[in-house]
Amino acid sequence: MSGSSITGWGSALPEKVVTNADFESRLDTSDSWIVERTGIRERRFGGTTSGLAVDAGAAAIERAGLEPSAIDLLVLSTTTPDMTVPATSSTVHAQLGCSGAAFDLNAACAGYVYAVVAADAMLSAGIGFTKALVIGSDTLSAITDMEDRGTAVLFADGAGAVVLEHREEASPLVLASDLGLDGSLLSILYAEHGGYMKMEGREVFRRAVRACVDSAFKVLRQAGLTVEEIALFVPHQANLRIVEAVAQRLSIPPERWAIVLDTTGNTSSASIPLALIDAVEHDRLSSGDIVLLSGFGAGMTWGSALVRWGA
Ligand code: ACO
Repeated sequence: MSGSSITGWGSALPEKVVTNADFESRLDTSDSWIVERTGIRERRFGGTTSGLAVDAGAAAIERAGLEPSAIDLLVLSTTTPDMTVPATSSTVHAQLGCSGAAFDLNAACAGYVYAVVAADAMLSAGIGFTKALVIGSDTLSAITDMEDRGTAVLFADGAGAVVLEHREEASPLVLASDLGLDGSLLSILYAEHGGYMKMEGREVFRRAVRACVDSAFKVLRQAGLTVEEIALFVPHQANLRIVEAVAQRLSIPPERWAIVLDTTGNTSSASIPLALIDAVEHDRLSSGDIVLLSGFGAGMTWGSALVRWGA
């Protein structure tokens, strides 16, 4: 049996901290509303998608003890590319000095789950890839209307990355996955070219909870595992109330959730790796632990993956 494992990780956040009080002073909102309805206390704004991706990617490669040229597959999950053409992964590939292939992947806030599953499958396919850098990087502040209190307080910027190394005689990284979408729901969350994010928040909330719960049960069934066997639940960091609603329906207690949204806001593709890395850096994972990655986003997309940590 062959498989891949996560051997390095790194995150990057812009320096500028924007607190709820900063919004209070210029929008009809309050710290208490934002905390109560979302769980977000502060977030970071700034940087570019490629710049944050390079910082997170470089840290992950260094943590894995590799030279950048050893990376032969770069997958960049992003909803906010630097340019329309070429893909932002081209810039990141050049700046890091990676080898082999690189591509962007856009599945909105479920994108990082899609990216991990795609990279793991490409490593296992026997088509020549051995080491993948999987980055989630987004600069949502650039496509958010800062005068719209319904979205301005939610979205933010950041990047997170992991290195996957393929090995013969290793157990698989992704034990089960479920990637899907309902493209007929485009109108509840979208941004046109050059425009800002438009969102029907309540509808996204409702759909997200249902999609994440159904998808999580599906991967558990596929893997023949129970909820009790999930050591860490790493949800997309959009809103603490969505996380609570999903976790409650799955019966996962709070001590097994990875949460960073209170200090990061919703960083789209970066949110799952940022939460995962925070848990790793707080020694919350041991070799062999089962982790549930769970994302949803514009599209509407969803993705769940059960991964085995460090096996
Ligand atoms: N401050 C104060 N009041 C506000 C704010 C704010 N920042 N934003 C909205 N309100 C008001 C609304 O205008 C509304 O007022 P009204 O009753 O007079 O019309 C009231 O608060 C309640 O609004 P709701 O939308 O019902 O509030 P809700 O409890 O649903 O919370 C929220 C809104 C936070 C947007 C929630 O619905 C949510 O998180 N939805 C999911 C969003 C999400 O996850 N999006 C990302 C998807 S991932 C991706 O692809 C990027």
